[in-house]
Amino acid sequence: MTAAGRDHETIPLEDVLVSERELWLDGPPHALFRRLRDECPVHWTSRISEYPTEAGYWSVTRADDIHAVSRDWQTYSSEVGGITTVTEGFPLELIRAMFIGMDPPKHDRLKMLFQAGFVPRRIAAHEPRIRQIVGDVLDRLEGRDTADLVTDVAQPIVSRVIGSFMGIAPEDDAEWAALMNSALGADDPDLNPGGVESLEAVELPKIFERCREMIAERRENPSDDLTSVLVHADIDGQMLEEHEIVMGFFLLVAAGNDSTKATYCSGMRALMEHPDQMKLVLENPSLVPSLVEESLRMFPAFSHFRRTATRDTEIGGQKIKRGDKVVMWYVSSNRDQSRYEDPDFFDVTRNPEHQAFGAGGRHFCLGAALARLELRLMFEGTLARYPRIELAGEPAYAESDFINQLKTLPVKLGS
Ligand code: HEM
Repeated sequence: MTAAGRDHETIPLEDVLVSERELWLDGPPHALFRRLRDECPVHWTSRISEYPTEAGYWSVTRADDIHAVSRDWQTYSSEVGGITTVTEGFPLELIRAMFIGMDPPKHDRLKMLFQAGFVPRRIAAHEPRIRQIVGDVLDRLEGRDTADLVTDVAQPIVSRVIGSFMGIAPEDDAEWAALMNSALGADDPDLNPGGVESLEAVELPKIFERCREMIAERRENPSDDLTSVLVHADIDGQMLEEHEIVMGFFLLVAAGNDSTKATYCSGMRALMEHPDQMKLVLENPSLVPSLVEESLRMFPAFSHFRRTATRDTEIGGQKIKRGDKVVMWYVSSNRDQSRYEDPDFFDVTRNPEHQAFGAGGRHFCLGAALARLELRLMFEGTLARYPRIELAGEPAYAESDFINQLKTLPVKLGS
């Protein structure tokens, strides 16, 4: 255990390294973030022990400051340096081939291709099909006393939902899910057993190969799925290059596979750990939309996203130099005590605003309406069928300062 690690409650804040693995073994270090918000809201982490050649970074921890960073894309770029604390884990040219890793104008043009299909009204039309997917997956639990909500429920549901948007065959869902889990959970020994080296040597080439097959097929036979949108995209008279199509596909499948699963599982865990809150929802199912927002607030699927300063500037009185990494910790801003009363309390009636989908800037989550619909149907479906569901073992977090998710959540179904 490094001095910069577990002892963060007593050691000087200038010695704290926010993304050290040991701080995140049991989920985000909320006590540390509270201390940072109170005492040092824009904090410098000087190094990342597991990546000794990586530069340090600024942590922005208060909601107002994150809102300001998020909205100022000219000063805080998603394109010049990567979008997470660590730049080395994933080739920068591939990050920049996804619109999450681009700045305007290219970002806006690419995002626009998808935006119409993701507005709440269009997403609402998918409700019957998503309800069916949730029902089918829950049907498979028939006759079982126990299950793992991560692998038996959440993963197959979210994989099929995004798979159907992308035109992935159902029998390929599990393989895509495994590839995406190893890419996003690159630091976790269970999600990515081969380690970061294997990601570049094995998983990424596999993703590219599988994706190229789908692209070739869509070129021959255009359809109305999102893969076809990428393949046939015309950005000011230019088609996307193949690596941009592959990474556009990757972005959508990765975001769809991971995030909703994470928030559903953490929300279910919180309900099981707070029987009074569970009772409120069971007695009044119209609280589910509020439960969704409270789960997003307390358990945002991504702990952070990052920008890079394009000029010397200042946030919250702290001077930032051109080229510095600036990390927006959504896990912190969503518990900012200046915005929420009793922020660590899970309150299914709160129906809060939050920054789980980003803080209002250009990169605001494309999938927010889809995620909200999926979460509502997943909570509704699970609670209607298993109102006596309870924890049946110790849940475990993915080891990551980026994906904020449980990798196992054993339950007794109580049917
Ligand atoms: C609980 C569910 C979800 C959460 C918490 C979430 C969170 C986020 C966040 C925080 C960002 C902003 C990144 C930044 O600040 O740079 C983002 C962007 C994005 N999300 Fe989501 N997301 C969720 C579900 C989804 C789903 C289901 C999709 C499916 C398509 C999706 C697609 C995207 C895309 C494409 C972007 C990039 C937007 C851009 O760069 O303009 N997300 N998401």
